[in-house]
Amino acid sequence: MEFPKRWLKILLAPLMFLSLTSCFEKLPMSTVHSVTEWGNDINELYLITTIVVTFVFFMVSIPFCYAMWKFREKEGDETIPKQVKGNHVLEILWTVIPVILLIIIFIPTFKLIMKQYAEPPEDALVIEAIGHQWWWEFRYPEYGIVTANEMYVPEQRPVTIKLKSADVIHSFWIPRWGGKVDNIPGEVNTINYVTPALEDPAKADYYQGHCVELCGLSHARMRYEAVVLSAERFETWTKVAKSPPKVTTALQKKGQELFMSKTCFTCHAIEGTAAKGLIGPDLTNFGDRRTLAAGTLPNDAEGMHTWLRDSVDAKPPYQNVKPGSLMVFGEGFELTEEDIKALTAYLHNSTAKTF
Ligand code: CUA
Repeated sequence: MEFPKRWLKILLAPLMFLSLTSCFEKLPMSTVHSVTEWGNDINELYLITTIVVTFVFFMVSIPFCYAMWKFREKEGDETIPKQVKGNHVLEILWTVIPVILLIIIFIPTFKLIMKQYAEPPEDALVIEAIGHQWWWEFRYPEYGIVTANEMYVPEQRPVTIKLKSADVIHSFWIPRWGGKVDNIPGEVNTINYVTPALEDPAKADYYQGHCVELCGLSHARMRYEAVVLSAERFETWTKVAKSPPKVTTALQKKGQELFMSKTCFTCHAIEGTAAKGLIGPDLTNFGDRRTLAAGTLPNDAEGMHTWLRDSVDAKPPYQNVKPGSLMVFGEGFELTEEDIKALTAYLHNSTAKTF
C-alpha cells in the first residue's frame, strides 16, 4: 500500500513548509516578519495576491485535470470527440473573471503606493543615506552628524530617508522594515518609515540592511545596520556623536599621531580633528560600530588587524577581505604590528555609546 503514504506526504508538504517558514522569524533578513507599517502593508498585499493567484490556480488546474482524466483515450475507442467552436458564455466568463481579479489586486496596490509616497509628517527625522562602492554614509542634516554603516534612529518616530549615490546605482534595503528603493546617481529617492518599537527599552535593537543592486566587485560586502534607540538615548547620542576620540594612553597618542601623519587622514574624517577626508567612511565614533568594512569583519582588535594588514599587503584589486576596495596604501607603505595596535587603540576609544 504505497499509494496512501505518498498522498499523505503531499498533503503534509504545505504544513512542513509553513513550519519551516516560522523558523525564519528570528533570522535577521526575513521579509515576512516585518516590524514596520511599511513592511506589514506589503505583506498584507502579498497575502491578497497569494489568495487571488491560489484561487486562479485551482480554478484552472482542477477542471484541467478532471478533463484530462474524464476524456482520456480509451482502448479500442476510435471516436473523435465532438468539435466545439466558440462559446459566448465561456468567453465572457474568462474575460470578466480575470478583470475582476485584476481590480481586486489593483485597488489595494494603488492605495498602498499612494500611502507610501505621501508627504511625511513635519516632525519626521531626515536622514541622508548615500551609497558608495562599497559602504554606506548616513548624514543627519538637522544635527550635522555623519556616520558610516550604522544608521541610528529613535524608536517609533517617522523618518524620511533620502537616498543618494556617490558613484553607481545601489539599493537600500532593510528586509524586516520592508521596502527596497534604489540609490541613483544624480537623483534623490525617498523612503518613509515609522521606526519600530524597541523589544526591550533598556537595550538597542539592530536590524540588518544590505545593498541589493549589483554595484561592482564587493557588492556582497555592502551591509549596514539600523540601530533603534529609545527617544532619550537617541537625544543623548545626537549630543555626543560628534565628540572626537579620547586620547588618554601613550598607545592612543601614538595611534592619533599615526592617523594624522600616515595617509589615513586624507581619506577619512574624524570630527574635531584635522582629519577631513571625504573618500572613505567618517570615523567619528568608530568605536561604537559592531562591524568594520561595511559588515565584512567584526570591529575588534582581530578584525582591525586583518583589515589593516590586508590593506597594506594585498595588491589591489585582489585584496582578500574586500576586493576592489579603495582602502589600500601605496607601494612601499609600511605598518608595523605596533602601529596597528596603536591605530586600533586610538580609533576604538572614539565612542559615544549610550546604549
Ligand atoms: Cu552597492 Cu550593491
